Amino acid sequence: MGNTFEKSRDVRRIDKKYNNMEKYNVKPLLKKVKSDIAEKVSTLEKTLSLALLLGKEGPDAIYYADSLIKKGTKLGFKVELIHYNSKNEWMELFNSKLEKFTGILPLAPYPEYISGKELEMVPFEKDVDASNILHLGHLFAGLKTEFAPATALSAFYIAKDHFHNELKGKDIVIVGRSLRVGKPLIPLFLSENATVTICHSKTVDLPQKIKRADIVICAIGRGNFFKSSMFRTGQLIVDVGINRIENGFSGDVDMNDLEESRLDVMVTPVPGGVGSLTSYLLYKNLLYLNDLQK
Ligand SMILES: NC(=O)c1ccc[n+]([C@@H]2O[C@H](COP(=O)([O-])OP(=O)(O)OC[C@H]3O[C@@H](n4cnc5c(N)ncnc54)[C@H](OP(=O)(O)O)[C@@H]3O)[C@@H](O)[C@H]2O)c1
Repeated sequence: MGNTFEKSRDVRRIDKKYNNMEKYNVKPLLKKVKSDIAEKVSTLEKTLSLALLLGKEGPDAIYYADSLIKKGTKLGFKVELIHYNSKNEWMELFNSKLEKFTGILPLAPYPEYISGKELEMVPFEKDVDASNILHLGHLFAGLKTEFAPATALSAFYIAKDHFHNELKGKDIVIVGRSLRVGKPLIPLFLSENATVTICHSKTVDLPQKIKRADIVICAIGRGNFFKSSMFRTGQLIVDVGINRIENGFSGDVDMNDLEESRLDVMVTPVPGGVGSLTSYLLYKNLLYLNDLQK
């Protein structure tokens, strides 16, 4: 990723709609990540492939799968959506059909017959979203920081970009401690010599902890939970939340409240922030798996 952050900051534009609160513009970073991927793809001798496993048809999963297929195909990958309708069909997939793929991604939400044990069947070297406990172990041991769950990577890349690649000494507060978002962010930020505090539903005096931070990661899955009174001037707020509302999606941050408060902060929009980078970072992970399989 070397100079990704360097280049994108030069072309960052400020959203003029807001007087004090600014919306982070992910497009320059997105452009650089896509061009890094395309460059690597052009050196490959074979087409890499990704299997998307869908067991529970729902508008969100279908939308996500379509978007992954579109983006992946455009980048030069072969992306296949594979349906399963029972635990037997899931087992059969792992007995034969999935061997040819470079990476595998089971799409959430899962049917009730798929739990931790079934998900562990995704082989370590094909686990494109780094959810295998061994990948997470490597991340925490500091053995690698370039391969991590894509959503966590996305929040991390945005933070690096905003602070011009200089996170040393920064105070980070992560709200949410899931294995796919909050926890993997701990080693990622530590690798940059930042200081990390992680909060959750039992944290006492959350606003006081949030106010200490230079960067706040909001990842709890509760629409409009974070109000302007919880933040302070100068912070970068990374909104990871995707919450379904009547006519679309909202983040975990109450954008209207933040806008009205005229607090001088930078915040990532939903949609158009963390989520738009996440799928591309999955393809970056696929390239990593290909190197791992050599
Ligand atoms: N942008 C993307 O690409 C992307 C990808 C994946 C997920 N997401 C979104 O990110 C959000 C989080 O996802 P997830 O999978 O991490 O969720 P999750 O597994 O449900 O975890 C939620 C976390 O938030 C904490 N929490 C809940 N209520 C809280 C409160 N009132 N105060 C403080 N902490 C609270 C929980 O604490 P406890 O541990 O104490 O219960 C838990 O650690 C969701 O909206 C999801 O849709 C976005």
